[in-house]
Amino acid sequence: MKRSSRFVVAGLLVACLGGGVFWALSDRARAEDKKKPDPAQVERARETVKMLDDLYKTAVVGITQTYVEKQADVPAATLAKQVFAAMHKKGYHNARLIDATGKPKNKENLPSTPFEKKAVSEMKAGKTYVEEIGEVDGKPVLRAATVVPSVMKQCAYCHGGKENRLLGTIVYEIPIK
Ligand code: HEC
Repeated sequence: MKRSSRFVVAGLLVACLGGGVFWALSDRARAEDKKKPDPAQVERARETVKMLDDLYKTAVVGITQTYVEKQADVPAATLAKQVFAAMHKKGYHNARLIDATGKPKNKENLPSTPFEKKAVSEMKAGKTYVEEIGEVDGKPVLRAATVVPSVMKQCAYCHGGKENRLLGTIVYEIPIK
């Protein structure tokens, strides 16, 4: 092989290797981009959680105030769960009412996912809000947990304990888009 063509071959090799490395790096950057959603989108998802949380909690307190006088009445939690199920079915978001006392009215409400467990343990330690960014089917989601204290005397009719004690959390999972 002539000296000049050897240079060409070497040059091509370097170019290919370099291209490969560049491609691998940019691919990794793309993968990381995918994992890290745009902060503005995350902020919008947080706003949605705040709005839903205000809506659900206002409804639960209003229903309790208006209709609940004794243990035998229908708890607002039952209606809240129906609304959560309907929203999930329509593909908007997931919301779950989770127990933080260890003695739930319904065992279904015990924390089950790693995030639910983490949220409950952090709330027991005094936090009122916990969040993480996760992924479902390759798409980013915001998981957020907000505190549910015993906000009025009626809560204690059925759940016992003093006013303001921690009863649970609402855990949201909403798409970031
Ligand atoms: C009339 C009785 C009653 C009242 C009043 C009541 N709850 Fe409940 N609560 C229940 C029942 C029953 C469930 C279980 C519902 C289910 O999952 O089917 C429940 C579930 C819950 C849960 C999920 C954990 C668990 O124990 O299963 C939380 C948190 C909760 N309620 C908070 C509240 C708050 C806050 C108030 C006051 C605004 C309140 N509840 C008032 C009966 C009541």
